[in-house]
Amino acid sequence: MKAKIIAVANHKGGVGKTASVATIGAILAAKGKKVLLMDLDTQANLTRHFFAEIPSRIVYHAIRERKDLPIYPVRQNLDLTPSGLEMAGIEIEMTNMRRREDVLKDLLEPQKSRYDFILLDCPPSLGLITMNALAAANKLIVPMKTDLMSSYGLNMMDTFCAEMQDLNPGIHIDFIFFNIYEKGQTMTDIVEADVRAKYGDRVLDTVVRKNNDVAKAAFEYTDVVTAYPGSNGSADFQTLVDELLEKL
Ligand SMILES: Nc1ncnc2c1ncn2[C@@H]1O[C@H](COP(=O)(O)OP(=O)(O)OP(=O)(O)O)[C@@H](O)[C@H]1O
Ligand SMILES: [Mg+2]
Repeated sequence: MKAKIIAVANHKGGVGKTASVATIGAILAAKGKKVLLMDLDTQANLTRHFFAEIPSRIVYHAIRERKDLPIYPVRQNLDLTPSGLEMAGIEIEMTNMRRREDVLKDLLEPQKSRYDFILLDCPPSLGLITMNALAAANKLIVPMKTDLMSSYGLNMMDTFCAEMQDLNPGIHIDFIFFNIYEKGQTMTDIVEADVRAKYGDRVLDTVVRKNNDVAKAAFEYTDVVTAYPGSNGSADFQTLVDELLEKL
């Protein structure tokens, strides 16, 4: 077993990075894949998706010590590395570290043989932590909303990947998908047409519709597929994962 390490990133906030990591991970685990979810954001929203309380040891400690990645079980086939408030200062603390862009890659190395998929939930910024995620990743998925700001975010991700080539040759945007999608809105049609024209088959056919059950599930410390299996959110993410598995 050699894990595919997939970074889910977008400079733009609130596009559904965290919800996607939680839901895609839950679906893959239900399909019998061994999955590790990694929360890299100070906000710790991914951790809170599954845990009422943030565990005592979080990714921050492992980055500082450059060892012993904390891994907690969520359910069968699904594990999680938590984040927390301490991550707010990590980029400053990493300034003087040797090979500071490869810290996460080194921490994940011993985990690669234990999982089929490792999903990295990046913060909404293009700082050192996202750089570490892209240095460690084999694939990059960019969720986006169909608004103008999200399409600017996409261009910035492209530039960022180009700058990462010395750290991880070949890293680029593998897949883009539309989330919180509302058909019939003027901007939806314009932005979707524009992004599909520019990025072609890297844009997934599947869109994830706006569905409040996705947000509600997070409040119940779980994912939408588990909490609301009959919802549009659950159906769309299932289709999305099928498309991803076919194309990965
Ligand atoms: N398809 C959807 N339909 C409705 N709400 C959604 C959907 N996907 C995500 N959400 C909700 O939108 C909000 C933002 O999503 P999420 O936190 O996953 O975004 P994010 O990109 O990780 O944000 P941040 O950049 O702050 O980390 C959350 O409340 C989430 O539950
Ligand atoms: Mg998030």
